[in-house]
Amino acid sequence: MATKNLSILFVASEVEGLIKSGGLADVAKALPEALLELQQDVRITLPAYRNMAGIDQAKVVLETQLEHWPHTEYQVKALEIVGVPVYAVDCPKYFDRPEMYAENNQAYQDNGERFAFFSAACLDMLPKLGFQPDIVHANDWHTGFVPYLLKHRYHSDDFFAQTKSVLSVHNAVFKGVFSYDELQSLPEMHTRYAPDAAVSATHVTMLRAGVMNADKINAVSPTYADELKTELGSHGMAQDFQHRSSDLVGILNGCDYSAWDPQNDPYLPANYKASRQSLVRGKKACKRELQKRVGLGEQDVAVYGMVCRLTHQKGVHYLLPILSDFLKHQVQVVIVGTGDPVLASQLKEIAALYGDKFAFIEAYDNELAHLVEAGADFFVMPSEFEPCGLNQIYSMAYGTLPIVRGVGGLKDSVNDYDVDTSDATGFVFYEPEPIALLNVLQRSLLLYAQEPNEVKRVQLHAMEQNFCWNKSAQEYIELYHSALS
Ligand code: GLC
Repeated sequence: MATKNLSILFVASEVEGLIKSGGLADVAKALPEALLELQQDVRITLPAYRNMAGIDQAKVVLETQLEHWPHTEYQVKALEIVGVPVYAVDCPKYFDRPEMYAENNQAYQDNGERFAFFSAACLDMLPKLGFQPDIVHANDWHTGFVPYLLKHRYHSDDFFAQTKSVLSVHNAVFKGVFSYDELQSLPEMHTRYAPDAAVSATHVTMLRAGVMNADKINAVSPTYADELKTELGSHGMAQDFQHRSSDLVGILNGCDYSAWDPQNDPYLPANYKASRQSLVRGKKACKRELQKRVGLGEQDVAVYGMVCRLTHQKGVHYLLPILSDFLKHQVQVVIVGTGDPVLASQLKEIAALYGDKFAFIEAYDNELAHLVEAGADFFVMPSEFEPCGLNQIYSMAYGTLPIVRGVGGLKDSVNDYDVDTSDATGFVFYEPEPIALLNVLQRSLLLYAQEPNEVKRVQLHAMEQNFCWNKSAQEYIELYHSALS
């Protein structure tokens, strides 16, 4: 590994511990933390949202305005998360709102302008703060204009002469599509001509601006990096990812074991470790507590858990047509999540029919998520696509066998029982069909019913897997060095 320590500005729209809506936030906390442990000078920047933890007490370290038109005034407030310095970019007209991106399922009208401003400000602030990063690391569409501005606005600016950019793609289905008119806050868009961001004569996407201009790009798993180059898996951007293929790699996310470890999990009624006795005892206590909490019978029966946003990405539409069939077996199913109201109401209908076997909790509840991970025997993730997925990794740590569709990071992290029993850590199916999901659920249930000792062996093997962030962070450092060379 290269030895020079790097200075890195990690740019994200959300960070676990400060404010979170999804997996991006987990990465935006854990990766910088791991980079810091590897002696890198890493700092995080995100918008100063109203509901961010600690923002009211944060110290103002910069009060300024954009050097470029439209000279918007903003402040930078300093915080810290797990030892990593954080710069929160405060501009009340954009970020002093009840939510981050949307209210009542309606995206804020001016999201283009808001995140274009944020992308501009996080570069504008750097000379003023005296922080000259080697690498600016952008994440997803919200920050796609960061690599764009580095290449266009700052290409002959001495301060940024040595700075390279990296873009991580966590989910390319969200692209940030805006018309030129909606991006008035970026003078670069006034000509209505931005071929390396445009998708039509009238619109650009922020993700494309990042993909076409970042020095290096990574997807959050190797398989997702491959999928992005295909028509089927690229969400419409195959050509762009193919065009950048020599600069595109996949790096699997790690697991934040300080938050997800059954031995030290404060949300569990009993903690347990990777030994047969401890697992059996701990899981039983967690299962009972889970059954009690969600109103299912407190019995020794196979429990299948699912915690997710209710969207097509997560494959809820593969489960719905076969759920009633599966519930005819000796099983219990628990689903926790919020999202698409249509999917939610279909789940409620089934719950009304199978109240003793199926619980649907329409909530975003981190504490309950921990209990599901611990109390279930199997964790279901039939995703249509999954850039990385984190729950399957948490599941393995909790000895809860993931049942996944073999896409993206799910494929890269779970070993299928039917392919290699000795190294198995879960079950994998491939066909995007409800019947394929039903088959794999039944396969797992058969094993549970007929070979309980074998199930425990596989659970213990899953618990022994190590997806520590340290390893992923080293791959990121290599990527940074390749961007610099
Ligand atoms: C997005 C993806 C998910 C990934 C996460 C963190 O939420 O949908 O698969 O694990 O980002 O990279």
